[in-house]
Amino acid sequence: MTPLPTPSNRPGTAGKLSGRTVAIFGGGSTDGAITNGLACALAYAQAGAQVAVVDLSEDAAGTSRTTVLKTVPDASVIALQGDVTSSGSVDRCVGDIVETLGTIDVLHNNVGVATMGGPLELEVEEWERGIRLNLTSAFITVKHVLPVMLKQGRGSIINIASVGGMRYVGYNYPAYAAAKAGLIQFTSHLAVQYGRQGIRANAISPGFIASPMIFQQITSNYHSVEEMVAERNRLSPTGSMGEPHDIAGASVFLASDEARYINGVNLPIDGGFVEQATLPTSGDQ
Ligand SMILES: NC(=O)c1ccc[n+]([C@@H]2O[C@H](COP(=O)([O-])OP(=O)(O)OC[C@H]3O[C@@H](n4cnc5c(N)ncnc54)[C@H](O)[C@@H]3O)[C@@H](O)[C@H]2O)c1
Repeated sequence: MTPLPTPSNRPGTAGKLSGRTVAIFGGGSTDGAITNGLACALAYAQAGAQVAVVDLSEDAAGTSRTTVLKTVPDASVIALQGDVTSSGSVDRCVGDIVETLGTIDVLHNNVGVATMGGPLELEVEEWERGIRLNLTSAFITVKHVLPVMLKQGRGSIINIASVGGMRYVGYNYPAYAAAKAGLIQFTSHLAVQYGRQGIRANAISPGFIASPMIFQQITSNYHSVEEMVAERNRLSPTGSMGEPHDIAGASVFLASDEARYINGVNLPIDGGFVEQATLPTSGDQ
């Protein structure tokens, strides 16, 4: 199989976002491991944008900042603690970002937590928590960032959804799936509602990505980590999982003027997974 592009063999993006400011909510990394959020922070900085990394964990936001600065030493990047489930917290973060970096041109909503369990396993409060983390969170960040974008007549919103919001993927996580489906539709509404005012809104739906979160949140669906990796590779029509840099490359493109006429799409980054009619069993090729 042809190797998937990596940051080292992908055409350069330098300067594509110079003069732009990106706010990534949930962009932290606990130990500098390349999460989807950190890969995007790196890619935005490499494209010349100022970057604000917001995370529930102050340490994780700070680690992403440090990691970006190691790769792009002249980057302008700030780290903030913030909770996307709290309107007051997000309001404070947006105020701090605008005060420090001047504005927000790109809102990147990365927070997502795979809440496992269905009606028999979850309490109502746990279901509601899943919806709040994966869907209401984007409503809250948009609520506070949209006025900034409308004032300047320009903005790009990128919501990280999931193929789990598009089809059944084999995991018992209906709250996550329903919230991600809602996030895709929320994105469509924003795109149509605010397109004439210079705002674009698009969703990205990652498929099976080999990011650190799967080892924390998805492994319980399998007998072992090895089985999870083998199964996720097997279910990807390309023969292997994607990587966080695949999400980052598409995010930079959607945020840039090259995507100026792309509005309201939901882009699966899944090696073709959602196009498969059924989940193949281990005997299938
Ligand atoms: N890896 C995959 O296979 C895959 C597949 C589909 C979708 N996704 C999506 O990708 C995104 C996650 O990517 P990642 O690799 O960066 O995950 P991650 O879990 O490493 O990062 C998410 C970050 O969000 C932060 N966070 C959690 N709750 C928060 C809150 N209330 N407020 C602020 N920050 C909070 C966490 O501290 C963490 O740093 C999610 O939206 C997920 O649904 C991933």
